[in-house]
Amino acid sequence: MKFFPPCLLLSFGLHLATLSADGSPLLYLGFSGTNLSMDETATITPSGLLELTNGIVNRKGHAFYPAPLHFRKSHNGKVQSLSISFVFGIRSSYLSMTQHGLAFVVAPSKNFTDALANQYLGLTNTVKNGNPKNHFFAVELDTALSIEFKDIDANHVVININDLNSIESSSAGYYDDTSASFQNLSLNSGEAMQVWVAYDGQAKQINVTIAPLEKEKPVRPLI
Ligand SMILES: *[C@@H]1O[C@H](CO)[C@@H](O)[C@H](O)[C@H]1NC(C)=O
Ligand SMILES: *[C@@H]1O[C@H](CO)[C@@H](O)[C@H](O)[C@H]1NC(C)=O
Ligand SMILES: *[C@@H]1O[C@H](CO)[C@@H](O)[C@H](O)[C@H]1NC(C)=O
Ligand SMILES: *[C@@H]1O[C@H](CO)[C@@H](O)[C@H](O)[C@H]1NC(C)=O
Repeated sequence: MKFFPPCLLLSFGLHLATLSADGSPLLYLGFSGTNLSMDETATITPSGLLELTNGIVNRKGHAFYPAPLHFRKSHNGKVQSLSISFVFGIRSSYLSMTQHGLAFVVAPSKNFTDALANQYLGLTNTVKNGNPKNHFFAVELDTALSIEFKDIDANHVVININDLNSIESSSAGYYDDTSASFQNLSLNSGEAMQVWVAYDGQAKQINVTIAPLEKEKPVRPLI
């Protein structure tokens, strides 16, 4: 039996120097009245949450910023440093049985019609997975263990580039600033959690950090 939980987004922010002349970030504090390109199960709830999936089995939903964003200042320039943060919740009536999860994705196209749901997370399909022409970058929040993608457990955070076989992965959690100890987080607890994705264009390094909503951003990244 499979129970597919609703995946919800509460807020989203992106900071990238080329976005606006004054350097102000792209920021959604709730999604009411926003102009996102949504497909399939994605919808905005009356309270302004972005609901990606709604509990119906074998379904997927996407929400994209409607216009292309420029990650380079010029065509041959290097990808600039950027930072993203968002707040999400995965809610289910069946706490110990949920799948699969959600992903933050940067891609050259909004058309994911032929991507599969379930362990493909609406990103690829059996044929396309791993193709360098996919040109996608994703941070995946995954609540199921897919052996075919060598998942480490049923509650993990991963970085994907063109492929659901991850570049880096970790069990969900964070390093406490004071004790330095690792604190487990259960992605499908229904609690709101915040994710930070930071890319350093100089070092060409991506950091991913996750913490409960009430916590400050932990100093040490998860990945
Ligand atoms: C929504 O965004 C698209 C793409 O940028 C634009 O063409 C359209 O006019 C926008 N619609 C509204 C209502 O702002
Ligand atoms: C989206 O992709 C599908 C499958 O690759 C294709 O059949 C369809 O025409 C595309 N839709 C648009 C609007 O480009
Ligand atoms: C944290 O999660 C790991 C992996 O699932 C598990 O082995 C460990 O016992 C958990 N620790 C706590 C304190 O729950
Ligand atoms: C990523 O994390 C490392 C280790 O904490 C840190 O040195 C680096 O500055 C971080 N980079 C970004 C872009 O946050």
